[in-house]
Amino acid sequence: MTVASLLRGLPSLAGPLPAFDSAPASPDELFTSWLSDAINAGVVEPHALTLSTVDPAGRPSARVLILKDLVDGVWHFASSALSRKGKELANTPFAALTFYWPALGRQVRVRGAVSVANAEDSARDFLARSASARANALLGRQSDVLTDRAELDAALAEVDADAVAPAWTLYHLTADEVEFWQGDPGRKHVRVQYTRSAAGWARSLLWP
Ligand SMILES: Cc1cc2nc3c(=O)[nH]c(=O)nc-3n(C[C@H](O)[C@H](O)[C@H](O)COP(=O)(O)O)c2cc1C
Repeated sequence: MTVASLLRGLPSLAGPLPAFDSAPASPDELFTSWLSDAINAGVVEPHALTLSTVDPAGRPSARVLILKDLVDGVWHFASSALSRKGKELANTPFAALTFYWPALGRQVRVRGAVSVANAEDSARDFLARSASARANALLGRQSDVLTDRAELDAALAEVDADAVAPAWTLYHLTADEVEFWQGDPGRKHVRVQYTRSAAGWARSLLWP
């Protein structure tokens, strides 16, 4: 069986899909409304996003994370500063976030500068995680090469369950661009892009 044969005939954006209703003055407001719609539509893990970063040569890499909060145009996510993404963000503190909610045919794209939250907020995020997530983060080895799965179990057995992982970091992405994309089965997709300016958020429509 070929990949092409598996792909053939798979529908995309088949619908029915909602129409783009309205674009409020702030992207935060529209995101809050679209996230509520995704939750109500039963989208699985609607808080999952793809985080894209670049290495020093400008080569991108991307992975899925969980959105922790959105406050006044600042998007929060958390990870290990020692991971590949952590190193890439330390070197190039800019990133893109992408959400996709298939049941609604909606995509949200965010770009901006990334900074590190204070240690207290990172620790609070860490302590709110599940025991197993905390234990894994305490290993401080995310994205290192693992030669044997047994090494992971041995390291987990040694973890001090009450500690806070020093490398666990809450990141803040200050958006300068947010695009809301509403898919249309007839391919007349609606794209509304918010761009931050000194005067506030400007809104433009983009060709699909
Ligand atoms: C649904 C989902 C949620 C995830 N959430 C996080 C997260 O919040 N933080 C994190 O560091 N990794 C999370 N991961 C794991 C990352 O995708 C990734 O494997 C890991 O962070 C290492 O990435 P890196 O090597 O590019 O740094 C999640 C994976 C999935 C599929």
